Order: sequence, then C-alpha cells, then structure tokens
Amino acid sequence: MASSPPDYTLLGQQLEALLDSRDWLANSAQTCAFIMEAIPELNWAGFYLQRRDRVLTLGPFQGKPACNPIPFDKGVCGAAARTHQTQRIEDVHAIADHIACDAASRSELVVPIVTGGRLWGVLDLDSPRRGRFDATDQAGIEALVSVFMARTDLD
Ligand code: SME
Repeated sequence: MASSPPDYTLLGQQLEALLDSRDWLANSAQTCAFIMEAIPELNWAGFYLQRRDRVLTLGPFQGKPACNPIPFDKGVCGAAARTHQTQRIEDVHAIADHIACDAASRSELVVPIVTGGRLWGVLDLDSPRRGRFDATDQAGIEALVSVFMARTDLD
C-alpha cells in the first residue's frame, strides 16, 4: 500500500529556506540531500549536468555510485535532455532504453532544468518501488526544481 504523498508545499518552503547561497554546487548538493531525506522510498537522487555538447555529466547526488557520462541519445535522462520534458517511468524494466545503474531501481522520474531555452541539467530520482511516482509527485518535484532554479545562479 502506498504511503500518503509528502506535503510538497511545505517541502518547497523548507527547500527555499535551505538554499541560502546562489551557488549552483552548494545548492544542487543541498537539494538532492534534502529530497533524499524528505521523500520516502527513493534509492537515488541527483543531478546530471550539461557540460559537453549532448552529453550529461554526473553531478552532486545521494545514493550508490552511478553511470557517467550519459549521452543525450541514451536512457531516461537522455530522453529528458533531448525533449525538455519530464520523464515519469512507472516500470523501468519495461523501457528498453533504460540505463540500469542499480538493479534495485524500479521506477524513475527525471525533470529537465532548462533556463533561457537551454538545458542546464536534469534532476533524476529513482525508487525501488514500481509506480512510486504519480502525477502529484511529478508536479511536486517539478515545483521543487523551480525553487532550486529560482534560488540558484545557473550559468
Ligand atoms: N536510469 C537512468 C540513468 C541514471 S541512474 O538512474 C542514476 C537513465 O536511464 O537515464
């Protein structure tokens, strides 16, 4: 049985208070640590950054060591990077293109971080529970990404 969803409005306020510098490195480290603590049933939470053309580079994260780099034409993160659309995957085993960094992962949510029409990076969340992320979680986590973006200098 799924637990009740986190209070994303409250989490947004707490994240706003936590991000008290404009520095992307401090803020991305704090954001993924906060999400890992505050949102139940996650086994990985972190950032991939666009530092090279059409390639994602691993950034600050919480969880097991992860796959790096990820080209734009591969995986769920690559799909988010290509399309600038959030990818919400009910069952990663059903996605041929999924990159399995941890065999325990069953569902995934990847939110692109786009500023001025350009991809800065993505926030990637993994869960060991199939169907962990519903539409409420997607909207809530997209709102947390908006807080991160508003509080951070993204160059
Ligand atoms: N599963 C992702 C790769 C990143 S890890 O989940 C941390 C993907 O398919 O893009």
